[in-house]
Amino acid sequence: MKAYLNRRYRFSASHRLHSEQMSDAENRATYGKCNNPHGHGHNYALEVTVSGQLSVHGMVCDLGELDRFVNSEVVSRYDHANLNTLPEFAEDVPTSENLCIAIYGRLQSFTPAKLEKIRLEETRKNTFEMGNMSL
Ligand code: NI
Repeated sequence: MKAYLNRRYRFSASHRLHSEQMSDAENRATYGKCNNPHGHGHNYALEVTVSGQLSVHGMVCDLGELDRFVNSEVVSRYDHANLNTLPEFAEDVPTSENLCIAIYGRLQSFTPAKLEKIRLEETRKNTFEMGNMSL
């Protein structure tokens, strides 16, 4: 029997939305107050969905194993980080859309279960998703 497992993680990170490809005026017009030179922070919530056949123990995968993987690949990398300083955002603006893509890429190599989707909550109003959207 196949089942889906959702697990929630939290991390805090700062960013400034600014593209070197645009003038300061264009950046302000595009990103508004998110272009403020001092940056700003978010308390992100990340929901990871994996699927798999249930083991003889009745589980999709070992939760501890999933936690260790997500913590080492994502939480420890991004928690209390200035996203603008990370290599994955050297070219790409660290919008939460681009952060969502980067996180999805980092989690795809989890082998005990299949990564189905991630959902990244930036604020109570904004969430971003990557993966199998028919879920
Ligand atoms: Ni922001």
